[in-house]
Amino acid sequence: MKWIIDADPGIDDAAAIIACLRLGLDVLGINVVHGNSPVEDTLRNALRLKDLLQSEVPIYKGCGRAILEPQLNATEVHGKDGLGDVDWPSLVSEPEEKHAVDMLIEQSYIHSGNLGILAVGPLTNIALALIKDETLSERVNELVIMGGTSGARGNTTIVGEFNFAADPEAAAVVLQSGIPITLVPWETCYHNLVTLEQLEQGGKEPLRNLVGEKFLEITAALFERTRHNLGYSGLLLCDLIAAAVILDPEVVTEDLDVFAAVETSGVYGRGLTAIDYAGVTGNEPNVRLILQVDRERLGALLRRALIV
Ligand code: BDR
Ligand code: CA
Repeated sequence: MKWIIDADPGIDDAAAIIACLRLGLDVLGINVVHGNSPVEDTLRNALRLKDLLQSEVPIYKGCGRAILEPQLNATEVHGKDGLGDVDWPSLVSEPEEKHAVDMLIEQSYIHSGNLGILAVGPLTNIALALIKDETLSERVNELVIMGGTSGARGNTTIVGEFNFAADPEAAAVVLQSGIPITLVPWETCYHNLVTLEQLEQGGKEPLRNLVGEKFLEITAALFERTRHNLGYSGLLLCDLIAAAVILDPEVVTEDLDVFAAVETSGVYGRGLTAIDYAGVTGNEPNVRLILQVDRERLGALLRRALIV
């Protein structure tokens, strides 16, 4: 199957992109969106990653704002530049001219019935594509999303996970689209940090390559911060988990088919992932919710991506 990555790089987006491109996923292109940083920064960061990986994958600029929500960024987590504030060489790669929304629609016709999307940022590009071309959902086989919550534990608002809180309307449109969705919620990420020990298991030497060293450089501050904030010694790499679900399906140890929707109003409820665990709506499941993953497998997958 062919894949399109939609991302807002972002340190954990970088981990997901590195894993996908280095572990052989057939990626048609990377679409960038506003999110962790303004879209100009997420675009530049995607181009930096393309250069680092010496990849031919085309990069497309997408939406710079949410449908309604004032711009929300997470530079306190990902750095002022969105990628750990370390030095990078001048860019060699350039973005494509086409807009990400148009790329997605165009590729859906070329690869109809053989297309997956990995979405690890706010869902604005995908929602706009679904609105622009109402038949898009019929041509997409699978949409793997990092976003939302499984138990209403927010990281951005009381109940809102960042990617859903950054554009609740977009998340609502996407969850209603009819595309088969796999959802990796915040709680699953929060309980499955990747430790430095895991990355070094099997020896530090193989990590001493351009990609391995750059990854450890951009994550150095985050390692410190998570240890300080959470009392865990590890990296919270949400987007990597969504990539891992595609790259190594056996990483999933617990999942559940449920009906889920996104709340777009309320004083505290905007951006909430409402999940019908009890089946009270009678609605058919629209989401495969990933509730637990094998943390050892996840760490091993990232190590493989960093040392190949
Ligand atoms: C999500 O928000 C972003 O900060 C991360 O890149 C991830 O996609 C986690 O809530
Ligand atoms: Ca992200």
